[in-house]
Amino acid sequence: MARINDSYLKLKAGYLFPEIGRRVTEFTSANPQAKVIRLGIGDVTKPLVPAVIKAFHEAVDDMAKSESFHGYGPEQGYGWLIDTIIEKAYKPLGVTLKSNEMFISDGSKCDCANILDIFAISNVVALGDPVYPVYNDTNVMVGRTGEADKNGYYENIVYMPYTADNNFAPGFPSQKVDLIYLCSPNNPTGTVATREQLQGWVDYAIKNEAIILFDAAYEAFITEDDVPHSIYEIEGAKQCAIEFRSFSKTAGFTGVRCGLVVVPEALTGTTANGEKQNLNRLWNRRQSTKFNGVSYPVQKAAAAVYSDEGWQQVQEVIDYYMENARLIREGLTAAGIDCYGGVNAPYIWLKTPEGMTSWDFFDKLLTECHVVGTPGSGFGPSGEGYFRLSAFGERSNVAAAVERIRAKWGK
Ligand code: MLT
Repeated sequence: MARINDSYLKLKAGYLFPEIGRRVTEFTSANPQAKVIRLGIGDVTKPLVPAVIKAFHEAVDDMAKSESFHGYGPEQGYGWLIDTIIEKAYKPLGVTLKSNEMFISDGSKCDCANILDIFAISNVVALGDPVYPVYNDTNVMVGRTGEADKNGYYENIVYMPYTADNNFAPGFPSQKVDLIYLCSPNNPTGTVATREQLQGWVDYAIKNEAIILFDAAYEAFITEDDVPHSIYEIEGAKQCAIEFRSFSKTAGFTGVRCGLVVVPEALTGTTANGEKQNLNRLWNRRQSTKFNGVSYPVQKAAAAVYSDEGWQQVQEVIDYYMENARLIREGLTAAGIDCYGGVNAPYIWLKTPEGMTSWDFFDKLLTECHVVGTPGSGFGPSGEGYFRLSAFGERSNVAAAVERIRAKWGK
């Protein structure tokens, strides 16, 4: 009989967001009259902007004519999209990249998981706590960890607590690590790493010959000056960091699927006998074998994000979500609830009122206020007592949710 991958049995029963969905469905089936407002999973609510839709339609029409039909594209993505992103998204930051250092993909969730293919199982991984669950769970799935302890910490993972006590800026791991996940703007806390903090991580990674896996999926939501949008704004980062970016939140592509990975040519890792190998070459080999590229219409739609029109339209949508974030943050703060994030990220991370556990607050918020959020403990043990509200939603719903929470818990 076929043996299973036993590591899957070490995982907690379900992925966080399906579990939330299950509880919400149970509640709405029993209470069909309830007007439930969903600020849980960070899923966009605004449609694709007109410039993107136009390019998408045109590309679909191209596929209908033999002279402009596209079959398999390059596994790494079309050169015209890569060069546009380098020119429009990286050059203004003072970052120069070569075309062969960027790989277009079907989204950051897959990339963050797939990148593990090119690293040995013996690597020690450090990640945040709380954290985007994909980083943790994919390391469990590949067999890098032991069992979880009673707090939910897996053996062989080094957890770095992100809490109000350390201002959401954990210190360096006390033991040697090989792979370090950093996410800024951070999911779930909505906080950001400063230039100095990122310089500290880059220096640390170079000194310890570690690789930083930098998730910048929310960089487009940064509103403050001098917060880095890319790890490559930091000196030395091309020697030690891989960056992930996504069109999901930036341009409303959660249902379209497009992202990218940057693997600089200078990045190396070692073989079992200590010989240096180029990581860009390994990732290229991995993608060429296991991936056939993102569809032509999707890449055309993604390129349209960077047209003058597209960029302005996308920016208006981002501003709309960030105004939601401001309303949530300021509304709840005025009600006496401690709130973090929401200035450079579409997430507000709050302290649960009355010292409730994250899941108790989730249930009360759902059943008494008909508002859905995400329990902080679902992102890791240090998230206990915290709660995440997403700013992706319609303004009237966001305002109503804030009002319901203030009416119930406001001081
Ligand atoms: C979240 O809510 O944390 C995100 O939507 C999940 C994701 O991007 O996969």
